[in-house]
Amino acid sequence: MSILAKHTKGKGGPDKIFRISGMAKARAAEVGKENITNATTGAFLDGNGHLITLKTVEETVKEIPFSEAAEYATIEGSPAFIEAAIEASFREYRPNAFIDGVATPGGTGGIHHALFNYLDDGDTAITMDRYWAAYKSICRETGRNFDTFVMFDAEGNFNVQGCIDKLREYAAKQTNVFLIMNTPANNPTGYNVKLNEWEAIMAELTAIANNGRNNVVLLMDIAYIDFAAPECRKVFQLFNNLPENFLVLVSFSMSKGYTMYGYRLGCLLCVSSNKQEVEDFIAVNKFSSRATWSNCSRLGMLVMEKINGDPVRKAAFRAEQEQLRLSLLKRAELFMKEAREIALPVCPFDSGFFVTVPTEKAEEVAAELRKSDLFVVPLGEGANAGLRIALCAIPEEKITGIPQKIKNALDAVGE
Ligand SMILES: Cc1ncc(COP(=O)(O)O)c(C=O)c1O
Repeated sequence: MSILAKHTKGKGGPDKIFRISGMAKARAAEVGKENITNATTGAFLDGNGHLITLKTVEETVKEIPFSEAAEYATIEGSPAFIEAAIEASFREYRPNAFIDGVATPGGTGGIHHALFNYLDDGDTAITMDRYWAAYKSICRETGRNFDTFVMFDAEGNFNVQGCIDKLREYAAKQTNVFLIMNTPANNPTGYNVKLNEWEAIMAELTAIANNGRNNVVLLMDIAYIDFAAPECRKVFQLFNNLPENFLVLVSFSMSKGYTMYGYRLGCLLCVSSNKQEVEDFIAVNKFSSRATWSNCSRLGMLVMEKINGDPVRKAAFRAEQEQLRLSLLKRAELFMKEAREIALPVCPFDSGFFVTVPTEKAEEVAAELRKSDLFVVPLGEGANAGLRIALCAIPEEKITGIPQKIKNALDAVGE
């Protein structure tokens, strides 16, 4: 009999992404990495498979004395770091509201605290059915349930009505209605929820907040925001003057946008028209940080402070970030063009690290593709299944021909 506590039953098991990327690595060791295509990794890599990093960030890191970086940070994060995270998230679209934040180890930490502190045991968080798998794991870890709505309707539009129906369903079942929106540059589809779609969702959330029974918590996961056009931030202007029982949480991450994946720093921001709600947010989340990871990367904080505090450095950083975004977009445009030419179905894509090819036989198609040394991740089940292709991990020259390979594999398994 295992010594593990009862509540751990069912946890563990292989992580699909790591399993398939393990297969790709094993195959690369056999035949040479230039002879395989590993489209599994969620990091922006160059043609040699090396991590692409931002020079402005690297230089800033190198300027910080080790003795300064090695010190403990405060649990909630320095005020200059929090301000830098607010500025990086919202830029000129900062909502007219009380805003504050707590440091977290990456966006993951912010998602953890949001789910833990704004849902009761057994309550349910809602998101779209094409989602980042860690949401479900965090819900499992914290004793919360997880439910989804179908992300795209039959015409391939974002399924606003499906979202609204799901919100109403849970408004009737629990006090806090909790919606996770991973946009822009959604993982795994690359979809950006459009302003008119946001307006409809916000109208429903506001109506729920005003119904006299419910509170609303909207968690925006903006891990990939710097890979979408900067104007996508317009949506933040919809968070002006919200009802006092409608809380917006924004999970900011330095991993992708600052290419500091392994440094583990993010910030959970709280946006509210009620000052007391923001004060409570800080007190409770600071406590949760103390009770989990304690404090976060001081080096990461100093990097953000230095970039945000120096207009010249900030302009150079933003220009470099923009170059990175455009070079990633080129990969996606190439993929989408070839897909269109052969009528390969692809989920609507705007920006980001991944594209998704919907197929109910995702496992079989992925296995078929591995026969020609193309490694992609099969995700989901049934109608929401698909292949996630990490364009961030493969250079343009390897993208050419991938849509055709996928089409052939779909044909081979009878899809
Ligand atoms: C959708 C999404 N949200 C959040 C994260 C959080 O990443 P991190 O904890 O490194 O900031 C990731 C990372 O892969 C992600 O894909």
